[in-house]
Amino acid sequence: MASAYPDIYAAWQKDPQGFWAAAAREIDWIEPPRKIFDPDAGVYGRWFPDAVCNTCFNAVDRHALGGRANQPAVIYDSPITGAKRTFTYAELLDEVSTLAAALTGLGVGKGDRVIVYMPMIPEALFGMLACARIGAVHSVVFGGFAPKELATRIDDATPKLVLTASCGIEPGRVIQYKPLLDQAIDLSASKPASVLLLQRPQAEAAMTAGRDHDWAGAVNAARAAGRRADCVPLKATDPLYILYTSGTTGIPKGVVRDNGGHMVALKWSMKNFYGIEPGEVFWAASDLGWAVGHSYIAYAPLLHGCACVVFEGKPVGTPDAGTFWRIIEEYRISALFTAPTAFRAIKKEDPNADYLKKYDVSSLRTLFLAGERADPDTVQWAERILGVPVIDHWWQTETGWCIAGNPVGLGALPVKYGSATVPMPGYDVRIVDEGCRELPNGTMGSIVIRLPLPPSCLPTLWRQDGRMKESYLSEFPGYYKTSDAGYKDADGYVFVMGRTDDIINVAGHRLSTGGMEEVLASHPDVAECAVIGVNDALKGEVPVGFVVLKSGVTRSPADIENDVVKLVRDRIGPVASFRTALAVARLPKTRSGKILRGTMKKIADHAEWSMPATVDDPMIFEEIGDALKSKGV
Ligand code: COA
Ligand code: AMP
Repeated sequence: MASAYPDIYAAWQKDPQGFWAAAAREIDWIEPPRKIFDPDAGVYGRWFPDAVCNTCFNAVDRHALGGRANQPAVIYDSPITGAKRTFTYAELLDEVSTLAAALTGLGVGKGDRVIVYMPMIPEALFGMLACARIGAVHSVVFGGFAPKELATRIDDATPKLVLTASCGIEPGRVIQYKPLLDQAIDLSASKPASVLLLQRPQAEAAMTAGRDHDWAGAVNAARAAGRRADCVPLKATDPLYILYTSGTTGIPKGVVRDNGGHMVALKWSMKNFYGIEPGEVFWAASDLGWAVGHSYIAYAPLLHGCACVVFEGKPVGTPDAGTFWRIIEEYRISALFTAPTAFRAIKKEDPNADYLKKYDVSSLRTLFLAGERADPDTVQWAERILGVPVIDHWWQTETGWCIAGNPVGLGALPVKYGSATVPMPGYDVRIVDEGCRELPNGTMGSIVIRLPLPPSCLPTLWRQDGRMKESYLSEFPGYYKTSDAGYKDADGYVFVMGRTDDIINVAGHRLSTGGMEEVLASHPDVAECAVIGVNDALKGEVPVGFVVLKSGVTRSPADIENDVVKLVRDRIGPVASFRTALAVARLPKTRSGKILRGTMKKIADHAEWSMPATVDDPMIFEEIGDALKSKGV
C-alpha cells in the first residue's frame, strides 16, 4: 500500500496551523487552544499560547479513568537485580498522585524546579510525573555524570528539591548515588532545601538531618493520611521539564520543553510515526536521563495509553546477549527503540544471534534506531536476525521527537541505508552553505530547519533566551541550526553524516569534546590540549585526548596521561568513556594558531587525509600518528 506520507506532509505544508490544530484534538485540554501559534511570543513564536492543560492528566488520569485502569502502564524489569513489577494505570495514578502529595508536603509547587538523579527504577518515572502533576519543572540528570556536572545543573536549575535513590547498579558494581549528590550540593552555590531519598537494599545511604527525607516514609505517610495531589492547571507554554545537554562549552544547555506542544507532537508521533495503537507495549531501551528516555520511555507511550518499560540493565552482560529478546517475549513488545550501539554490542557478543533462537519475539513489528548514525551493517544485521523493518530516525534533545524518519504509521517508505529517510510534518529541512544558500541535492552542507520549529521543540534555553538565539538562530537567519551536516537526495531523503561542532556521540550519549578539553587544560602540568572523537566499532565514537606538557614538568608523561583520564572520569563522569590520553610534544596548528582537530581525527580513524594548506609544520602530523600507534589507536 502506498504511504500516506506525501499527502500528510503536503497537508502540513499547505496549512501548518490547521495540521497542528487537528493533532491537538487528541489531547484532553482544560481549556482547548483557540490560537494555535503566536509568532510574536517567545524567541521564535509559541505553540498553543492560550491553552490550559496538564501533562500528567493526559499521561495517567485520562487512561486510569477512561477504561484502562487495569491495563499495564509501567513495566519494570531489572535483570541486574532480578526485580520485576508491573503497574496498572490505576496503580500508576495512586503512586504518582501520592508522591505528588509528598512533594507538595515538602513545599514544592508550580514552577519550582526538581532535580531527578536516579537509576532506572519506576520511582524515577513516578517522580517525573508527580512533578508534571503539580506543575513543578523536573530536570533529570543521567546517573553516569559526575558530581561536578550535577552541580552545574543544580546551579542553573536552582531546584527546591532533589529526588534521588541511595544507589544505582552497574554490572559488577553498586554506585552509591548519595555521596555523589552530597558532593554536588557541596560544590553548588544554590542549595536545594530538601532531598527525597529512596533507600535501595543494595546500599543504604546516610541521611543529612534537616535536609534529607525518606522517600518511603513520606509516601507512606501521605498514603496513610489519604493525601493525593490533584492535577494543577498549567498554561500549554509553561515548562514541563528542563533537560541539560552538551553544548559547545563545558556549560550544558538547559533545553526547555513545554506542556502543550510536547503532548501534541508526541501523541501524533505514536500512531503516525511509530504505528502503535493504544494498549500495546512500547519499549525504548534507553535511560530516563536522555531525551529518548523522556519522550519514549515515559511521556509518549503513556500519552498514547500504551505500556512503557523501565529496563534496568544492558543489552549484553545482564546476564547475556539474549536479554532484549527475553523482554520482548515476556511482555509482548510491539516496538523496540534503541541506539545502534546496543545492537552493535549484541552483534559483537552473539554474531549468529544464537540467543534469539531461545525466544519468541513474534510480537515485535518494528525496530527503531536513533541517537547516532545507524551504520548500514548494523541495520542490515538487525533486519536479518529479527525479520522486521529496522527504522533509523534522526532527532536531537532539542526537538524531543524525530526530525526525519520513515513513518511506519503512515505507511513505510522504501529504506535507503544510511539515510534517516524524510522530514516529518512540522520540519522544513534544508541543506545550506555558510551563506545560508540552499545547496543542490547530493551536496553536503549544514542541515537547518526553517522556523518556526514544530510543537515539542525547545522554545528556549532555561532562562537564556540570548544563548538560545546565539546557539541556534543567529548563524542562519530564519532557520534553526541543527549543527548536523549532511545532504538530501532527489527523493528528499535526508542523510545525516555528522556534527559541525565539537559534539561527539559515544554509545548514543552526546558529549562535548570542548568540555573535556576544559578538564584536561585544568591539570597543572598541561600546557595545551585537544580532544577528538575517534571511530569505535562498538560505541560509534570514543574520545581521545592529546596533552602537551608544560616545560620543566618532572613527572613522567605516562603519569600525567593517567591523571587526565582520572580527571575526566571524576569531573564529567564514567559516561564520557575517556580512556586514552596521549602526551605529545606539540599539536598541529594552522599558522594562525588553530588546532587542526579535523585532520587529527582523520589520522586516528585511518581515513584518507590531505595536508591542510594552512598547517604550520607538517611534521607534527607524523608525530601524532606515531603517538596514536603507540596506544594501538
Ligand atoms: N550510572 C553510573 N554509571 C553509568 C551509568 C549510570 N546510569 N550508565 C553508564 N555508566 C558507566 C558505565 O558503567 C561505564 O563505566 P566503566 O567506564 O566503569 O565501564 C561508563 O559509564 C560508560 O558507559 P557506557 O558508554 O554505557 O558503556 P558500557 O560499556 O557500560 O555499555 C553499551 C555499552 C553499548 C552496552 C551501552 O552504552 C548501551 O546499552 N547503550 C545503548 C542504549 C542507550 O542507552 N542509548 C542512549 C540514548 S538512546
Ligand atoms: P541527542 O541530543 O543526544 O539526541 O543527540 C543528537 C545528535 O545525535 C544529533 O544532532 C546527531 O548528530 C546524532 N543523531 C541522532 N540520531 C541520529 C541519526 N538517526 N542519524 C545520524 N545522527 C543522529
